[in-house]
Amino acid sequence: MSRAALCSDRVLLNDWHVIADLTNLSPDKPFHTRLLGVDLTVHCRGRYNKEIVRDDTGREINSAKRYGFLWACLGTPERDIVFVPEAEEPDRYLVTGGSIAVRSSGLRAVENFLDMGHLPFVHPGYLGEEPHTEVAPYNVRVTEADEVLATECKFYQPFASPSAKDGFLVNYIYKVVRPYTVALYKSNSVHKDRLDTITLFVQPVDEENCIAHPFLCYVKDGTGEAAVRCFMQLIFAQDKPILENQLPKRLPLDPRAETPIRADAVSVYYRRWLRDRSVSYGAIPARL
Ligand SMILES: [Fe+2]
Repeated sequence: MSRAALCSDRVLLNDWHVIADLTNLSPDKPFHTRLLGVDLTVHCRGRYNKEIVRDDTGREINSAKRYGFLWACLGTPERDIVFVPEAEEPDRYLVTGGSIAVRSSGLRAVENFLDMGHLPFVHPGYLGEEPHTEVAPYNVRVTEADEVLATECKFYQPFASPSAKDGFLVNYIYKVVRPYTVALYKSNSVHKDRLDTITLFVQPVDEENCIAHPFLCYVKDGTGEAAVRCFMQLIFAQDKPILENQLPKRLPLDPRAETPIRADAVSVYYRRWLRDRSVSYGAIPARL
């Protein structure tokens, strides 16, 4: 891999990031990846013991396993791995949605995940369709837990999930949990009073490349894990070229850089929240 800019954002260096889906690791083969511009090699010692080593210094870094992923922290962990309470509910399918490499800043991937306006155009026939293109007003705020929370989001979807039989008005909640982690809660197509959860753990490979690691906690509705995974991959395959065509590749944090419209309210909050937390890696910082 070519040299990449290193990260100086403490909030990112001292946090946990997914670097691999455990099913992609094999005991007899080292696994190579990159996190925040640092090349890493994973050595699997037997079935359970995983060691993550920096290629530049040869030093081992912090590692952990959770939700079917291998996690790494380059610095000193200041917080625990993001807690996904739905993963502990026994009546849900827990599915890792494949690790998808995207040639774009991971912050762009998070913002795209938050964007309801693109659904009928990028995912027609699935997550939206014309003429249902208008994004109705919704609420956004920063919570006491320091997360960006968007509620009261409603969007008509013709085929919201693999178990959908008909189109319906789907309730959405979005939550940005960490700079590179975003969660989405949406009505289950069969049990409409329950919410399926998708958490997108984005691995910042470097400032202009990321790997999206979706983690799905879907209410068991007879669909099965394989169908849930296939659906997620189909949807993400539609997002990938759109994301890779966005310029600049890093996310501009200057409020004047890209004109916001009402539908972008959550995006405006997200960019401001990143600015306030001094996140600059993968971003074009705001001019003072
Ligand atoms: Fe999308």
